[in-house]
Amino acid sequence: MIRLALTKGRIEEKAIEILTKAGYDCSELAEENKGRKLFFKILNTDIEIVLAKANDVITYIEHGVCDAGIVGADTIMENAKSLYEILDLKFGKCKFSLAGPVGQNFINNYTHKIVASKYPNVTKEYFNQRNMDVEIVKIDGSVELAPLLGLADAIVDLVETGATLKANGLEIYDDIAQISARLAVNIASIKLKKREIDEFIKNISEVI
Ligand code: PRP
Repeated sequence: MIRLALTKGRIEEKAIEILTKAGYDCSELAEENKGRKLFFKILNTDIEIVLAKANDVITYIEHGVCDAGIVGADTIMENAKSLYEILDLKFGKCKFSLAGPVGQNFINNYTHKIVASKYPNVTKEYFNQRNMDVEIVKIDGSVELAPLLGLADAIVDLVETGATLKANGLEIYDDIAQISARLAVNIASIKLKKREIDEFIKNISEVI
């Protein structure tokens, strides 16, 4: 048996599309059958799927209660400590950027700054690599508000189309990393369930 954790929301639909394309019958997960259930079977296989929030997908994989999971590289970069990132699934593409008010890029003219982000670890790592000591404020959503309210000089956030930045008078100062959905696997499962996991990875990699 393989248990797969699937991130609810934004990347869920596309992940189900890929699984289906790879020959896995995900009809239990179709909107009309799903209801409020969080636990599903891929029909005619020994694969179970659980739906979870991105951070919890990492937790379940790392604790070994799920063998694998589909989750954004953003969450892996921010929170993962010990899992294997096996495949780039090539959807859910966006990037991590440092952004702030138009015309106030401080990257080459640095004084002490406050940076807001939902991703404090990624932010810390980025500035550490540049030997820049910034104060980081954790914000849970709509991070773009922080500079508008005067709480922060800049934000580190996901940028997809750039529309949110533009609509709020912000611009990209620097790009940090390219993001997309990834297939991640538990470190023990990859050995203990080698045959099942290898077959699953092979089937998925053929359709991405
Ligand atoms: C994400 C991200 C940006 C926005 C970027 O937020 O945090 O705010 O999408 O997309 P864009 O470049 O296409 O405008 P999300 O909608 O996930 O909500 P959140 O701010 O509550 O996290």
